[in-house]
Amino acid sequence: MRHLLSSADLSRDDVRMLLATAAEMHEIQRRDVKKLPTLRGRTVINLFFEDSTRTRSSFEIAGKWMSADTINITGKGSSTSKGESLRDTVLTIDAMSVDCLVMRHMASGAAHQVSQWVDASVVNAGDGTHEHPTQALLDAYTMEQRLGSLEGRRVAIVGDLTHSRVFRSNAITLRTLGADVTLVAPPTLMPSGIRSWAERDGLHLSDDLDAVLADGPDAVMMLRVQRERMSGGFFPTPREYTVGFGLTRERLRALTDANPEAVICHPGPMNRGLEISADAADAASSLVLDQVSAGVAVRMAVLYHLLAGEEVTS
Ligand code: NCD
Repeated sequence: MRHLLSSADLSRDDVRMLLATAAEMHEIQRRDVKKLPTLRGRTVINLFFEDSTRTRSSFEIAGKWMSADTINITGKGSSTSKGESLRDTVLTIDAMSVDCLVMRHMASGAAHQVSQWVDASVVNAGDGTHEHPTQALLDAYTMEQRLGSLEGRRVAIVGDLTHSRVFRSNAITLRTLGADVTLVAPPTLMPSGIRSWAERDGLHLSDDLDAVLADGPDAVMMLRVQRERMSGGFFPTPREYTVGFGLTRERLRALTDANPEAVICHPGPMNRGLEISADAADAASSLVLDQVSAGVAVRMAVLYHLLAGEEVTS
């Protein structure tokens, strides 16, 4: 594996290997002294053109705990704000002989494009509304920790599908692992082309969250309403969105009644009171902070397989 650009590039064996490595890395995370020599002498650049708390810091921590030299560059503080093109920026960084570029960009396909320009390995840490493969890996890892194998498990992904790269990568990885996936959104936030994808890959579609919850899914993944990506009115008012598609206290109760073991995920950042209530975010069944913790372990696993010379199968 030279790059990690799309969840679709990972076979079931690849995912299994990455999650197994992540489990080993998670052990290290629980030690007092969290330092491995594995990536000594390797340089990882986090190049982030969009805001990020979790993803950027967890890649940085992951690199540091494996002794890589990690450097963060953000769009605002880089020469792109002086008019430099993305190509010139990444060629400049690549000319410093770095080993890995972890990249977040507002354009779908940016990481893929950059991977064709540079010698370094490229990790897609979110490209526009397209994909976010390490998020899907950490979500699968977190759900497996609580639920065991995801084969045949029912996962509902709920909310702003149109603007969500998290949903695209998750739907792919969850299907790779054999989960049964239902996508829930108001018709205005169902992405175009979703029907043919759903038919091809066996995804279920619904615009009735109450009916989906009453069915007792094993996991419910709430997505952030991505207002920064919305140009027009995708729903009448925030209040109406919550009434139709928020995981409110009442819906949390309905979910728990239907399946007492059901877990709740959210990639963060959460809009409390909009797509998820405080009751749901802070419930014992909420895995939100477990996802963050797993994020470091999974990113250690990804950097390890890309940079330490260990081959993933494809
Ligand atoms: C997500 C992202 O940036 O795609 N956040 C994350 O990486 N944890 C989801 C979001 O912004 O809603």
